[in-house]
This record gives sequence, C-alpha cells and structure tokens, in this order.
Amino acid sequence: MVDMVPRMVGNDAERLAIRTRGLTKTYGEGAAEVRAVRGVDLEIEAGSFVVMLGPSGSGKTTLLNLIAGIEPPSAGEIRVDGVDLAGLDEEQRTRFRRNSVGLIFQFFNLIPTLTGSENVELIAELTGGGERASEMVGRVGLAERGDHFPAQLSGGEQQRIAVARALAGAPHLLLGDEPTGALDLDTGRKVLALLREVAVERDQTVVLVTHNAVIARMADRVLGMRDGRIVSDELNPEPVDADQLEW
Ligand SMILES: Nc1ncnc2c1ncn2[C@@H]1O[C@H](COP(=O)(O)OP(=O)(O)O)[C@@H](O)[C@H]1O
Ligand SMILES: [Mg+2]
Repeated sequence: MVDMVPRMVGNDAERLAIRTRGLTKTYGEGAAEVRAVRGVDLEIEAGSFVVMLGPSGSGKTTLLNLIAGIEPPSAGEIRVDGVDLAGLDEEQRTRFRRNSVGLIFQFFNLIPTLTGSENVELIAELTGGGERASEMVGRVGLAERGDHFPAQLSGGEQQRIAVARALAGAPHLLLGDEPTGALDLDTGRKVLALLREVAVERDQTVVLVTHNAVIARMADRVLGMRDGRIVSDELNPEPVDADQLEW
C-alpha cells in the first residue's frame, strides 16, 4: 500500500501537460515595470486542444513563451511535460524546448536562405529525428514544393512548412502564437485542420493563443486572458471542424 501513494501522484502528474502556480512574469523595473503575467494558476491535460483568447497586450505571448521555456518566470511554479522549468538554466531550457515543444508563429519564422525542406531538416537533425524530415514535409502536403525557398512559397505553404518543422522533433506539446494571423480565411482553416489532425494522430497537446475568437469553436477548452490573468475557463462540449470556422 505504501508505495501506491507516490505512484498515483506520478500518474496524475503525467496526465497534466502543463501545470502552473502563481506564474508571474515582470519586465523592466521601477516606473517602467510591466507585469505581463500576473499569478497564473493553470492545468492543461495531456492530449487536449486548448485555445487561449485575449486582446492585444493581455499577456498571451508572454505566457506561451514561459510554457515553451523561451523565457524564465519572474516568480511562481511551472511544470511542462513533467519538467520543472523554473529550476532550469538557459542551456537546460533550450534543451527542454528542442525535445518537448514545437512552436508555430504568426510570421512563420523560417530561415530565408534555406529551402522549405532544409528548414525542417535542420530542426529534425537537432532533435535527433533526421529521418522524419521528408516524412513531415510530405505529411503537410508539400513534398513537391519542399525545394523552394520561403520567399517562393505562399503564406499558407510557409506556415505548413512551419508546422512540419514544429512536428519534426516529435514534441509532446505544440504551441502556436497567432498561427493564422497572417493567413486568409481559407488558408487559415486548412492550417488549423492540419494541426488538429496531426495532434490527434500523435496524441499531442496543443495550445494556440489568438485574438480571433472564432478559432475557439474548434477547441476542447477555451481560456480567456486579460491584463496578465486568466479570467475565464470553459470546456467546449462540441468542438467544430476547422473547415466550419468563419471569420
Ligand atoms: N520583452 C518585453 N519587454 C517589456 N515589455 C514586454 C515585453 N514583452 C511583452 N511586454 C509587455 O507585456 C504585456 C503583454 O504582452 P504580450 O504577452 O505580448 O501580449 P499579447 O501577446 O496578448 O499581445 C504588454 O504590455 C507588452 O507591452
Ligand atoms: Mg502576442
């Protein structure tokens, strides 16, 4: 019986992809101090598809960057994919990010001097998944166009390459910061449908932050953010397919 207790705690912790307590991020000091994230308590279950909504300046990007290990918190606890991020130094956070997190940004952030496929290969090699690169480029439907440079690809194609890159390391967690912000409606829907499909296939946890409330309709759970705090938290009983979204 005695060893049951830690085992149950362990299972419980594994089910949670993200757990924060009093998570806080402050930039600057004195009169210039900005409290971007103000004491966030959050638990996100592994395998869920979460959309975080909030107006510009509400702290969405900052919170996502804390979860991704891009920045260290100023205070509070944060555990992602079983790792205590507040206790890591910069080098350890970089390793964590490579191994556990796939990131997708509004403006794609591809390396312009590498072809689409090379952008994916670079990350795949860093994460020890070199053989996955061409598979991933095929998976996002760009096998034919992979040898083009980012400037020769449309926005939607660039974002699909970015999705392939994010997935190349087989991360448990996919994070998107306004991933459809620079795409037209139809292209945005296709990218979201692809994200959802691949995440379900691979049992990945997805957290997308956006100011576009329509995207929330496809989420399992919708968080609202304002002034650095989570101000609403709702489960969506019937998520719709991405191709039914209108904006
Ligand atoms: N590196 C930074 N230095 C100083 N202030 C920042 C920095 N990053 C974000 N902020 C501030 O933190 C607040 C939250 O910003 P952000 O997380 O980017 O919000 P959102 O993504 O919701 O638009 C804003 O007031 C912003 O100006
Ligand atoms: Mg932002």
